[in-house]
Formats: sequence, structure tokens, C-alpha cells
Amino acid sequence: MYQTIISEKDGGICTLTINRPEKLNALNKNVVTELSSALEDALFDTTVKSILITGAGEKAFVAGADISEFSLLDKDGGKMLAQKGQEAVFNRIENSPKPIIAAVNGFALGGGCELAMACHFRIGSTKAKFGQPEVNLGLIPGYGGTQRLTQLVGKGKAMEMMMTGSIIDAHSALQWGLVNEVTEPESLLEKCREILHVIQSKAPLAITRVIELANIAASGNPKGYEAEIAAFGELFGTEDKIEGTAAFLEKRKPVFKGA
Ligand code: COA
Repeated sequence: MYQTIISEKDGGICTLTINRPEKLNALNKNVVTELSSALEDALFDTTVKSILITGAGEKAFVAGADISEFSLLDKDGGKMLAQKGQEAVFNRIENSPKPIIAAVNGFALGGGCELAMACHFRIGSTKAKFGQPEVNLGLIPGYGGTQRLTQLVGKGKAMEMMMTGSIIDAHSALQWGLVNEVTEPESLLEKCREILHVIQSKAPLAITRVIELANIAASGNPKGYEAEIAAFGELFGTEDKIEGTAAFLEKRKPVFKGA
């Protein structure tokens, strides 16, 4: 169905694999368009409860936006590229009501680092490498990197990464909080799916509120506390809250419906 994305659905998890390994999965126009469609499909499909994003091949998650397309772009073209990409893919991932995690299996540079950062959290393999090397091209991150990297690793480390363009390994990414965990390459997908299955066993409406509220917090919006109070109250009116509390008191596992 897609030329550059493999979409596989199993056990409620939709795995989206960026599939251009010969170009280290660089994000060209086609990848961005197809990733946007595949995401839309996964978000719409009620059998899909969570999403996993990874890269094909042994070397790269995504090695950035496709630099070969940059020569065609002027000022307005550059702005459009950033705006359309952010709207169609990056913001959509961040604001997805279903959990989305990144399985970072290799280079996550430029737009690849930004794609991983747009996901709700990241698990890396020992081969994961992160960087925002746009300054080498006379550019800056354009898919949300200046904002999300600063949120995730703090201003000092983010500035260093973006100013030097240097690439950090999985060990540093773990220390800096860019990934939550590092696995051996062969166990990366299994580990991510294990985590997603845990999340899928929880109340879906509560998970969606967690995503929304953590995003508000990360954006620095002071209304987060008020929004939390409102969401907390709303969840008290759900069937899943009745089920969750009853199951606890009855010493059994809850069966959530997402209602
Ligand atoms: N855009 C377009 N093509 C890219 C690419 C990108 N961001 N990253 C890698 N490729 C292509 C290479 O041009 C090469 O294609 P070719 O075989 O047709 O020449 C192929 O992918 C393999 O990459 P190569 O550079 O040969 O691999 P390497 O192991 O020597 O180096 C990297 C790996 C990641 C260090 C290097 O590819 C690189 O620096 N890529 C660009 C990273 C970047 O600046 N990203 C931010 C873009 S805004």
C-alpha cells in the first residue's frame, strides 16, 4: 500500500517502520506524506490501541530530512516544509490520543531525532545515536527540535547539541533523558511491545488525559494544574473508573472499556 512505510497491526499495536534503508530512512516528501496517512489510518482504526515507530535496516532510525530535496527550496519553500511536516506528522504524533513510542534502532539525526522526540517516549538500542546536525548545513531543526529537545534535556544540553551538531550515543542519551531505556538491538521491538501491552491494559481515557496533561506541562503552560483538576473530575464520571476501583476492592484485574 505504501512505498516507504511498512504498517503492521498485531495485538492492538500498529508498528510503523520507515522503510528507505538505502538512504538511512531519510524523510523525503513521500515519506512524510505516507507517514501522515499511515498515522491517520492507525489513529482511526479502533483495533489499534497504540503505535510503535521504528526504522528499517540495521543502521538508522531516521538520518534526518532528505538533504537532496533542500536544494530545490527557497525561503518560502523551507518555511512550508517545516510547517507542513510539523502539522501533518510531528504535532499529530505528540497530540495523539493513543500512546506512540519510538524504537530507536540506530541514527536518529535531524528530523529523525525530532521524530523520536515527538513520540510520547523513546526506547533505544545500544546502536541508537542522536543529534541535531543542521548547523552543518547552515540550518536549524525545523520539525520542532529546538522546542522538544530543550524540553527533554534542558537548555544547556540542548544548546550544546544544536550548536555543535555533535552526535551522542545511547549511553549519553540515557543519561540525558532522551531515551528511557537501552536494550540490545535484537530485543528492542520486543521490549517496546511489552511496554505498550502494559499501557494497553490500563484505562484508555485515563491514558489519553495523561498524554494531554504531560504535553501541557512540557509546553510550560501554567494552566496545566487547572486542566488536571478538570480531567481528574471528568474521569470520575467514567465507567472505567467504576470498574477500576471495584476491581481493586474485589482483588481482581480490571477490564477496561474505554468508556
Ligand atoms: N538525506 C539524504 N540522504 C541521506 C541522508 C539524509 N539526511 N542521510 C544519509 N543519506 C544517504 C547518503 O547520501 C547515502 O546515499 P548514497 O549511498 O546514495 O550515497 C546513504 O544514505 C548512506 O549514507 P552514508 O552517508 O553513506 O552512510 P555513513 O555510514 O557513511 O554515514 C551518517 C552515516 C548518518 C553519519 C551520514 O549519512 C550523515 O551525516 N547523514 C546526514 C545527517 C544529517 O545531517 N541529518 C540532518 C538533515 S537536516
